[in-house]
Amino acid sequence: MKRVKIVVGNWKCHKTPSESVEFVKELKSRLQGHTGCEVGVGPTFTALYPVGKELSGSNIALCSQNIFWEKQGAFTGEVAPAMLKDCGVKYTIIGHSERRQYFGETDETVNKRLKASFAEGMSAIVCIGETLAQREAGKTNEVLSTQLKGALADISGADMVSRLVIAYEPVWAIGTGKVATTDQVREAHAHIRAVLNELLTPELGETVRIQYGGSVKPENATEIFAVENVDGGLIGGAALKADSFMAIINAAK
Ligand code: PGA
Repeated sequence: MKRVKIVVGNWKCHKTPSESVEFVKELKSRLQGHTGCEVGVGPTFTALYPVGKELSGSNIALCSQNIFWEKQGAFTGEVAPAMLKDCGVKYTIIGHSERRQYFGETDETVNKRLKASFAEGMSAIVCIGETLAQREAGKTNEVLSTQLKGALADISGADMVSRLVIAYEPVWAIGTGKVATTDQVREAHAHIRAVLNELLTPELGETVRIQYGGSVKPENATEIFAVENVDGGLIGGAALKADSFMAIINAAK
């Protein structure tokens, strides 16, 4: 089955709201008439509203880097689902390894965020991936299974099929310049596909897109995107400049 590739820029803690708007203006003009793969950008929370306005009606999807699970209330510092939806967010990025590493994200909280995202009618990109120690201990597949099943607990098959994207991001390859080899990518993606097939059915599992993330650059994107079961990329550093991001998008077409 043919899955449309999806390339998303995860801007992390970069760009002010004004810089973000300037940047998407350029992207928008360079992506005019673009087809062949889906493109998204993930600015910081403070930039979502103006960037969402700028992207309204365009072929670039607005993504948030996190989402809180409660609807509203006394939760200082959190941003609720409807607030994101109102900015025009289409995808919420959930469970990024930096959130897991620095901000106490667990499989349980990933699951809560995912449910909240779907309940609000937004799609989600769920990030999973092993650390170097886990890989060296031969635990990669076990870690991926646990993270995936934990994230997807009690999620309906219909939601998985229509709104879910998985991002495989080996923690040791994020921001380090170390890219996983194509064999490592192929194996991890095949394993994730097998778990999805088991949670859904083989036929439905095939419809869910699996991005690769971790030091994707214009120089390696074509090779990575050609690997079986790689349905696009979640891009950090190389998504911050229009030239490199555009080159990666073109590699996905
Ligand atoms: P990187 O980040 O491309 O800078 O390695 C990827 C990510 O964290 O999503």
